[in-house]
Order: sequence, then C-alpha cells, then structure tokens
Amino acid sequence: MRTRPLKVALLGCGVVGSEVARIMTTHADDLAARIGAPVELAGVAVRRPSKVREGIDPALITTDATALVERGDIDVVVEVIGGVEPARGLITTAFEHGASVVSANKALLAEDGPALHAAAEKHGRDLYYEAAVAGAIPLVRPLRESLAGDKVNRVLGIVNGTTNFILDRMDTSGAGYSEALDEATALGYAEADPTADVEGFDAAAKAAILAGIAFHTRVGIGEVHREGITEVTAADIASARRMGCTVKLLAICERAADGRSVTARVHPAMIPLSHPLASVREAYNAVFVEAEAAGQLMFYGPGAGGSPTASAVLGDLVAVCRNKLAGTTGPGESAYTRLPVSPTGEVVTRYHISLDVADKPGVLAQVATVFAEQGVSIDTVRQQSRQDPDGEASLVVVTHRALDSALSGTVEALRKLDTVRGVASIMRVEGE
Ligand code: NDP
Ligand code: HSE
Repeated sequence: MRTRPLKVALLGCGVVGSEVARIMTTHADDLAARIGAPVELAGVAVRRPSKVREGIDPALITTDATALVERGDIDVVVEVIGGVEPARGLITTAFEHGASVVSANKALLAEDGPALHAAAEKHGRDLYYEAAVAGAIPLVRPLRESLAGDKVNRVLGIVNGTTNFILDRMDTSGAGYSEALDEATALGYAEADPTADVEGFDAAAKAAILAGIAFHTRVGIGEVHREGITEVTAADIASARRMGCTVKLLAICERAADGRSVTARVHPAMIPLSHPLASVREAYNAVFVEAEAAGQLMFYGPGAGGSPTASAVLGDLVAVCRNKLAGTTGPGESAYTRLPVSPTGEVVTRYHISLDVADKPGVLAQVATVFAEQGVSIDTVRQQSRQDPDGEASLVVVTHRALDSALSGTVEALRKLDTVRGVASIMRVEGE
C-alpha cells in the first residue's frame, strides 16, 4: 500500500459534509485498505468558520474555498455546498488544478452537467455524483456502468423524500397538505424554504440527470415537465383510495415507442396500491429501471439525510481515488444518441379528472360529449350530488389512455361549459 496519502478537500460541512468528514475519520483504515493508500482531509471550506464542528481539526477550516481548490496538491475535491454558484466555479477550478471531483449537487448537475463533464474530460479528471440522485441508493453507477451493455427504455420512481413523506402522511392520517408539510418540517425532512421539494424542482433535476444517463443523451432541467404537490388535496387522496390507488410524486423518463425521442416529467400521479411504489413510505425513495435485456429492476432505500447521502459520496470517493492511483479515469458523459426531448403533450397515459358541475339533467351528457369530441375515451364516471343550495355535484371521470395534448384540449373545452363550475383537479394515473 502506498503510504503517501491522497489529499481530499471538503467543500461544505453541513448535513452531508459533516457525515462525510465523520466517516472519513472513523473508517480511515478500511478506506485506505480499499483504495490502496490513505486518504487525508486536507481542508474544509465553510461559510461560518466559528461554528463548532465535532471531530474536525479547527486548523482545517477555511472560508476561502477558492484558495483551497487552487492549492495544487489536492487529489479529490468533494463538493457538498449545493446550489449553482460558487459550486460551479469551484469545481471548474478544481479540475484546472489537478483534482477530480465528487459532488452531491443535483441542482448544478442538472443545470450545467455537460459543461462540467467537458471540463473534467479536458483536464483528464473524474466527475462522480452518485449522491445527487436518490441519496444512498446506487443508481447512477448501475445506469452508467452495470447497464452500459443494455438498452434502458424507462426509468420511473419516487426520487424526493420530502414530498413522499408529505403524501404518505396525507394518505395514512387524512391530514391536509399544510398539516403534513408542517410535520415534515418539524421532523427535519423539509427545509425552511421547501419550494425546491414541494414544487418538484428537486425531483425534476434528478429526472434530468437520470434521463441523460439512461438514454445516453442530454436532457436539460428546462426540458423536464414539472408539477409539484402543492395542489394535491385530501379529496384527491380520498378519491385515489376509492379507486384502489394512492398518490405519489413520480419522476418518469421514457424512450418513445419509435425510439426516436425521449420524455421526462415529474408530477403527482395515482398508482394502484398493488404497485411496489405504493408501499414506499415516509421519506424513502424507490426507482424502477426497465431495460430491454435485464427486464424490470427496482432500487429502494433512503433517498436523503446526512449519513445515507455520505455513504454515496464515500463510494464515489473510493472509486475516484482508485482511478487516481491507477492513473486512469472512470466513465465520462455518454450523450452520443443525441435524442431530442419531446414535449409532454406527446405522452400517453390515463387521467383522473375531478369536476364541480351543475346538478341538473343533461350535464353528464354534455361532459361526455366534450371528451368524445377530443378523442378521449372515458373508463369510469362517478357523480355525487352535494345536496347544497348551489345545486352542485362532484363528477369524477377516469379516462382510458389518451394523449396529454388531447386531455389538455378536453379540459380547456370543459372549462367553457356553463354547467362546469370548476375543474377541481387533474391527475395522471400511472403504473397499471
Ligand atoms: P447544508 O446547507 O446542510 O450544508 C451546506 C454547507 O456548505 C455548509 O457547511 C455551509 O457552511 C457550506 N457553504 C455554503 N456556502 C458556502 C460557500 N460560499 N463557501 C464555502 N462553504 C459554503 O446542505 P446539505 O449538506 O444538506 O447539502 C449539500 C449538498 O448535498 C447539496 O447539493 C444537496 O442538494 C445535496 N444533497 C443533500 C441531501 C440531504 O439529504 N441533505 C441528499 C442528497 C443530496 P456553514 O456550515 O458554515 O453554513
Ligand atoms: N430534499 C431532497 C429530498 C434531499 O427530500 O429528497 C435529497 O436529495
């Protein structure tokens, strides 16, 4: 074993970074044996230097992250600051100064992955980011390496722990959205500003990364159709239950049937209780990968949290250090298929539409006519009179598989009917 240590610069020492530092220290001997050389924490960049950081030598702490990555003797930079800047500039500088990079930063990779891969390749360095998608769950490496000989056609799953916790609570306790969000915040799942999670930005970034790797193409974050969970109501959850379903925020990346394009979308969807994703509870993640030769694979585990995410970071650190000692690099970006990303209008799926309608003769026929005119076939209809002074009824229509664009046209036409007082919710039905 080489005795001269490989030097690691840690950028960020928060929820994830502090666990990375802890495991590097407590498992130092095992890591050295697995890599073939010891790894040494050479510096830790943070924003607040006076904060007490248990188990970390205060002499290693700096607020000058740029100087740390420019030192020239750093072998690997671990970026766990988050956000686009200064992380992007620091990673690029790290490559220029001879370091490989391990990052957990899905926002940055979804925003600027191709440029970062190009910079890594230009300087002959590694860029690894297993922790950026689904925390501890090995997903990036299985897609990039284990399934490199297969053809992946679909990746579908729950990739955001916070929203899964909220939807799970709404389902199991009957809580409303706000109440469930408050509980997620109190338990430390949701951040003070939960926008990235509840509006689907976090899941969309992960979907962009997964689609790019799975289909060997580039999928920008702006090309991922995104809907969050803020509009999901207790009534939607109850309606899903009546259909033998539950509601999950899904990320779905698909190769088109003709193989000439891909789609990536994130939205709440009803899935049957018999589907394996329906039993993914609390803040857990699970992802299905469908590949031509392998068939269906399911990956399940903790998708967030300091220790689980640090596990993925450490796995990458070991891989990158091994490459460094071998004088090689691992797989870089594979985007040779150059498949275009189709708009969501071309997606075909089933829909659950909940309408508030006037409770009088002929309304059902009017509504059914609109669906027929748009070429959307109805599977089931459930109407319930509210017996209220406004004379309204709830009408729930579940369709057969239809084009997303046809469904949008249907909803637009329904809104124009005098007898339709409101479209309470529209939700896709998946996983059947
Ligand atoms: P935190 O907010 O807990 O930690 C961020 C760290 O970065 C803090 O130590 C902070 O310093 C430091 N920091 C912030 N700005 C700067 C700066 N300009 N220069 C130097 N240091 C800076 O974030 P997390 O640990 O939760 O997340 C880190 C990354 O991991 C993100 O990309 C996130 O998306 C990703 N991730 C997180 C998961 C999780 O469950 N938390 C799961 C999967 C991925 P200080 O301590 O002084 O404030
Ligand atoms: N906020 C993210 C989640 C963290 O809840 O899943 C893990 O990426």
